[in-house]
Amino acid sequence: MSWWWTGAIGAAQASLQFFVNFDYKKIEENDCPQTTQSVALILGVTGIVGNSLADILPLSDTPGGPWKVYGVARRLRPPWAADNPIHYIQCDISDAADAAAKLSPLTDITHIFYVTWANRSTEIENCEVNGAMLRHTLAAVVPNAPNLRHICLQTGLKHYTGPFEAIGKIQSHDPPFAEDLPRLDYPNFYSTLEDILFDETGKKPGLNWSVHRPGMIFGFSPTSMMNIICTLCVYASICKRENTPLKFTGTKSSWNGFSVGSDADLIAEQHIWSAVDPNAKNEAFNCSNGDVFKWKHLWRVLAERFGLEYEEFDEGEAVVSLAERMKDKGPVWGEIVRENGLVETKLEEVGVWWFADVMLGLEGGLVDSMNKSKEHGFLGFRDSKKSFGHWIDKVKAHKIVP
Ligand SMILES: NC(=O)c1ccc[n+]([C@@H]2O[C@H](COP(=O)([O-])OP(=O)(O)OC[C@H]3O[C@@H](n4cnc5c(N)ncnc54)[C@H](OP(=O)(O)O)[C@@H]3O)[C@@H](O)[C@H]2O)c1
Repeated sequence: MSWWWTGAIGAAQASLQFFVNFDYKKIEENDCPQTTQSVALILGVTGIVGNSLADILPLSDTPGGPWKVYGVARRLRPPWAADNPIHYIQCDISDAADAAAKLSPLTDITHIFYVTWANRSTEIENCEVNGAMLRHTLAAVVPNAPNLRHICLQTGLKHYTGPFEAIGKIQSHDPPFAEDLPRLDYPNFYSTLEDILFDETGKKPGLNWSVHRPGMIFGFSPTSMMNIICTLCVYASICKRENTPLKFTGTKSSWNGFSVGSDADLIAEQHIWSAVDPNAKNEAFNCSNGDVFKWKHLWRVLAERFGLEYEEFDEGEAVVSLAERMKDKGPVWGEIVRENGLVETKLEEVGVWWFADVMLGLEGGLVDSMNKSKEHGFLGFRDSKKSFGHWIDKVKAHKIVP
């Protein structure tokens, strides 16, 4: 077993340290290992966890390796994701024909890491489109990859609260959330994905599954549909540019109360652990850092990283959402990008205001339990405050923000 999940404290710190020190030298595609023990297919390779999987799977000491890695996304491979020795495949898995054409020839796949999703305006539509994406993927791969043995599916803590549209409409489970809580009586695309997974793996002896349920993810992907770190970095950059203090735009309860986060590398490590450790087969696992934090402490970290003053939460002041504050800031962002020689990005892509408003506006921490994961042998953890700072540094290092 790897040092990732056996040695607990020292090992997890070493893992984080290793990542921080990793030298991102350009590695060409033909540097992919010639002799492989495992072959990964990452669906959503440029996403917030897909990017961490693409960083970690090809490393020489990754459990189950050496790994050959295929990574799928719709867009051209972005420059900030071009350094990993993976086989990048442009494919739209919501299109059955495209999925069949591009994925069915990959007959050597042994493991699938499903870390993608589509966002539609209702949860019923989410169930339809996300169900179709997973079905198309499995229809292309399962019959054609005879050595396929494990599928990791990433969902999230909305398993216990219901989807975003259900906030305020239904009673969520009482935190801390444990994996054996029953499903809520409300449509949820996570349940659709689980049912497809259980059905497909049930038909093929020797094909196992695991489900991973992170909370708010701290990671790196400027095109992620939900990226709290990138969004807050862009907000801080605009505050800096306009010489305004960094105002907290959430609730008193999230400023002062306990929240949990999930480091993207930690989630990737849990995916890989479950893919290769027999103790993790056919189980669902929460995946959070293993500590709690208060936004008022992370706010200080954010302000310091951008050389900004920040304001304490003021109960007497009406909260103006980030969506409202940032709605006319496209031109300012354009200037910031130009003047600092940053990677070209669109404000609406790097600043996901609706998501930050939901996360900072939560009433009562959505805290989960990592007990099941630990009992099954995954002892990885992160210090949330350090993790928050680490990913801010990465967004800066990749010149997404100044
Ligand atoms: N982000 C969070 O904070 C968070 C927290 C808890 C749970 N989750 C859950 O984690 C799961 C994965 O989400 P994520 O946040 O990791 O995703 P993400 O960062 O938004 O990344 C999505 C990835 O999928 C690709 N993609 C999207 N549509 C595709 C399609 N039709 N065909 C092929 N590739 C496609 C995207 O690239 P292209 O756009 O180029 O195709 C990207 O690489 C979701 O179920 C989400 O609800 C996320």
